[in-house]
Amino acid sequence: MNKHQFLEAYFIDRRKSPSFKWAKANDQTIALSVADMDFASPLSVKKGLEEVLDLKAYGYTALKEDYRSVFEAFYLRHHQLVINDDEIFFADGAIAAINQLIDCFSKPNDKILICPPVYHQFARIIKATGRKLVTSPLIKQNQTFVMDYEDIERRFKEGLKLMILCNPHNPTSHVYTKEELSRLGDLALKYDVYIISDEVHADFNFRGYQHTSMLSLEKYRSHVFGVLGASKTFNLALFAHSHIIIKDEKLKTAYLDFQNRHHLGSPKLMNALASYYAYRDGDEWLTLVKELIEDNYQIASSYLDSHELYYARLEGTYLMFIDLKPLLKDQTIEDFLKERDLSLNLGKDFGEGYDSYVRLNLATHPKLIKEALERIVTKGDNQC
Ligand SMILES: Cc1ncc(COP(=O)(O)O)c(C=O)c1O
Repeated sequence: MNKHQFLEAYFIDRRKSPSFKWAKANDQTIALSVADMDFASPLSVKKGLEEVLDLKAYGYTALKEDYRSVFEAFYLRHHQLVINDDEIFFADGAIAAINQLIDCFSKPNDKILICPPVYHQFARIIKATGRKLVTSPLIKQNQTFVMDYEDIERRFKEGLKLMILCNPHNPTSHVYTKEELSRLGDLALKYDVYIISDEVHADFNFRGYQHTSMLSLEKYRSHVFGVLGASKTFNLALFAHSHIIIKDEKLKTAYLDFQNRHHLGSPKLMNALASYYAYRDGDEWLTLVKELIEDNYQIASSYLDSHELYYARLEGTYLMFIDLKPLLKDQTIEDFLKERDLSLNLGKDFGEGYDSYVRLNLATHPKLIKEALERIVTKGDNQC
């Protein structure tokens, strides 16, 4: 199958579906917000779910025996990351996983660090769990955003329990290198800070950028929890399912105890099976989706380049972080988007100082990307 055939077979107009981002759209609106795709998941997922429906008796049911080996093989194949059976713990989605790690490895009023602009749910759960939110803003460096290690060290020194790392980073799409992660890891060891490494966007990397899992760096394993999942990779957010990976024995024991006390860790069969079939049979699908995302990035970036608009270059994820300031004049970003019938995520939801930024989701049909960019760059001109 080539990518044109893929589009024919897999693109879904979700406008009339209960999709979060499309449900509110009118016939004219283009919704490129929430981080999911307008593509059907690999066909094997549907077949797997039908297999569950066909059981007909929906009593307590065991997970497939080879679930773990299928998951492990995927990470070995795609990331050369070795994961062992006893290092895998299940949660109902990535945010649930992070929430449980916060509960298990910190106490109310403990400080937790994030690096904005970053996925807005991190700040929300830190506050919701009664922990103190500490931020160390990323620094804009040419066409990407990097960590400010001096500032992070200052924050670590002040006494911090945990940090939530987003790798690749949503919304800047930066894929952290081994050197960057090692620099952070050295600080974590020095100040005894534990890192929750959210790697749910790991399977998207473009033009030579290669994901490095924090879990692959042996030196830091005593201070790292990985959060991995298929919800972004194969468009499976509906089936809230994720994996917490812990390699350190002491941390594993502590987490197991927490899991037992809270009766956690049994995956929902249907949700786990959706991931299982995608991990097992979804490689070709993933290759084609990545080609389409790359094409969409080329379309979007050529419009933005020709209007000299700033955007973070796409390294990972399928999300583009774009500064529309030169086009706003004295308009608010909300009015600008409303006037153009566009629904995008607002930069200010990811961090302070990003009022003129938007996050644009590239995982859709190229015709929608083209039309959205046309509306961004030309509509205002026409009105003058
Ligand atoms: C970095 C990151 N983590 C977690 C999530 C949410 O994952 P889940 O739906 O599995 O909780 C998202 C969703 O966009 C995300 O971008």
